[in-house]
Amino acid sequence: MGIKHIKFEEIDSTQSWLKENVSNHLGEDVLVSTRHQTSGVGRLGNNWSQFGSSIAFTFSLKPTDPITMTPLEIGVHIVNFFNELNIDLLLKWPNDILIKEDDCLKKVGGILCHYHDKETLLVGIGINLDQKSLPNESGFKFSPGALSTSLVEKNNFYHDIPLSIYEYILTRRLNSVSTKDEWSKHSCHLNKNIKIVDGSKETQGLFSGLGENGEALLTHEGRTHKVISGSLWILD
Ligand code: BTN
Repeated sequence: MGIKHIKFEEIDSTQSWLKENVSNHLGEDVLVSTRHQTSGVGRLGNNWSQFGSSIAFTFSLKPTDPITMTPLEIGVHIVNFFNELNIDLLLKWPNDILIKEDDCLKKVGGILCHYHDKETLLVGIGINLDQKSLPNESGFKFSPGALSTSLVEKNNFYHDIPLSIYEYILTRRLNSVSTKDEWSKHSCHLNKNIKIVDGSKETQGLFSGLGENGEALLTHEGRTHKVISGSLWILD
């Protein structure tokens, strides 16, 4: 399995870097990792801020069919990878990675995918690792959380963990049926009352799982609504 692993001590964003440079690496699998991002990019035009130690990497990946299932598939692999290290994580639709701390759900990471071409998706993953550096201020939709710092003890982990996760994913690709099943098992809001806000549009209902294309299925007054994008809030 050949891969070009590009390592930066510091960079604005691994996502922006690979978006700009992927065309120079045609036919190659590329993984870009860094110790520090100065201008990380999040979903829906948000920034992705780094608090203390964190993992930040982007790689090119052949999408699954349908392509919209791929970010959800990545979420499943991330949960399973850390589960093998005895760290329990949960997923919040569409691409958030959460941890439960003192009965409170906190966002430890997120997944960001950019379509390059039908053979290439750019998958960015950011995960906080430093509980001590998390900000106290409110203003976050979900309080930030972090994984245990014991992962940080290994030298060079900023690059080693991304490579391990990348290899883990490549050897365990899931089809859309398995992704749907596995994703629901790890969801923190299956059968819960939720709302999804997409601009001025708000849809509320019981989250009953994923549709065939990875859309959220919300049941309300006997009808099922499909939502394809937005921010999800858990109401109970
Ligand atoms: C989200 O908004 O939840 C997704 C965050 C994704 C952040 C990662 S960190 C590595 C890669 N580089 C970026 O600038 N963003 C993604």
